[in-house]
Amino acid sequence: SSFWAVVPAAGIGSRMAAALPKQYLEIAGKTILEHTIERLLSVESIERVVVALHPEDVHWNKLGCASHPRVSAVTGGAERAQSVALALEYIKGCAAQDVWVLVHDAARPCVRIEDIQRLMAAGEGALLAAPISDTVKRAERAQVIETLDRQQLWSAMTPQMFSLNQLHSALTSAAAKGQPVTDEASAIEFVGGRPRLVEASRDNIKVTRPEDLALAEMILTRQRE
Ligand code: C5P
Repeated sequence: SSFWAVVPAAGIGSRMAAALPKQYLEIAGKTILEHTIERLLSVESIERVVVALHPEDVHWNKLGCASHPRVSAVTGGAERAQSVALALEYIKGCAAQDVWVLVHDAARPCVRIEDIQRLMAAGEGALLAAPISDTVKRAERAQVIETLDRQQLWSAMTPQMFSLNQLHSALTSAAAKGQPVTDEASAIEFVGGRPRLVEASRDNIKVTRPEDLALAEMILTRQRE
């Protein structure tokens, strides 16, 4: 079977409070988005990487990978799930048969290649994840309601891999019912699927807040050693 990747990169990174959207900040010599795309391109069996960009993006064309033969760009939407759906529609227009799609956050530049490869070997809808290390509280207005059973809790990461047709129809159903979708797996769960968790290295952090930049840089540097 064939594999394609989708990188939603149409967000504005409001929590980073930087002058540039976070995917365009530089760490370890290049932008976060370039690190992320290069990781995916280094997996040879990924045929193409489709990047969803903000309609007013002015930074993309300055990147070397914008003209890479295995990279395409599409215009994203107002929500992450819409950005992904638009990229899937683009793939439907070019891929001959159904394909596996790996959706990977632009903001996760430190994912390890071997974790991507283990995900691709899952042979079913699956996502990278790590067991939670914190104790997690459910609360309302900062008052604890309950402590969740940590044994059962995982942090969902990306890439998340699903068949193109299954993911597109799940995202369409979730959107039609107004279901909030913060990752691909939650749309699949919404239509009754039970994605497989593939345990991944904690290197695969999501760069969200200013303090994450130094951490990501340290991880990338250490990975090169
Ligand atoms: O906001 P959050 O960190 O969850 O965003 C995850 C990813 O989704 C980021 O790479 C961001 O650029 C992308 N995104 C998108 N389209 C949006 C909002 C976010 O592609 N409308």
